[in-house]
Amino acid sequence: MAAAGGTGPVGPYPASVDDTDEAHDAYDRLRRRVLWSLPSGLYLLGSRAGERRNLMTINWVTQVSFDPKLIGVGIEKTAVTHELVTEGRVFALSTIDREDRAIVRKFTKPCEWDPDASTLNGFAVHEGATGAPILSQAVASIDCEVRQAVEVGNHTFFLGEVVDTAFLKAEDTPVLRMEDTRMNYGG
Ligand SMILES: Cc1cc2nc3c(=O)[nH]c(=O)nc-3n(C[C@H](O)[C@H](O)[C@H](O)COP(=O)(O)O)c2cc1C
Repeated sequence: MAAAGGTGPVGPYPASVDDTDEAHDAYDRLRRRVLWSLPSGLYLLGSRAGERRNLMTINWVTQVSFDPKLIGVGIEKTAVTHELVTEGRVFALSTIDREDRAIVRKFTKPCEWDPDASTLNGFAVHEGATGAPILSQAVASIDCEVRQAVEVGNHTFFLGEVVDTAFLKAEDTPVLRMEDTRMNYGG
């Protein structure tokens, strides 16, 4: 890709990195640590297509427009969640109480749904306005309808319009961020 300044091709490795496997590996590790240092939140994303439901731990979440209110979420193409959001065209975000941080480890694989108890992996959920599952012990919920799906490498960036929001706990409850855990994603 040509640089904007017309200085010739750039990337993925900058000119200062030698063209050897060792130099590339060392730079790969550095770049990963730099990308991991980007501050982010940590959420559960509820998806629904018909009677299929899932909750997935996610940190690639950001508001991208305030008129209309659009939230962008990056979802890996191989995830069950990707299938459900593509089919159902909705998602619901749950923000997590910092004291409940252990929960995010329970939602990194497809969930088990118990329709009688209304639980996913044993955690109580309820339906948002879109029908997508919301963690009942969330601090807040944001229900979205998908307006656009942008293909970005091995993920899809789904842009959802906010159609319902709620606080389920006191508004000043501290919410979970990536830095509260020892986890990383991406890089
Ligand atoms: C801390 C953390 C952050 C994550 N962030 C994302 C994310 O932003 N996007 C994503 O697609 N998967 C993310 N994942 C991976 C998913 O939680 C999950 O492992 C995988 O995508 C499978 O989801 P599925 O149940 O829908 O198949 C993250 C995992 C962890 C542990």
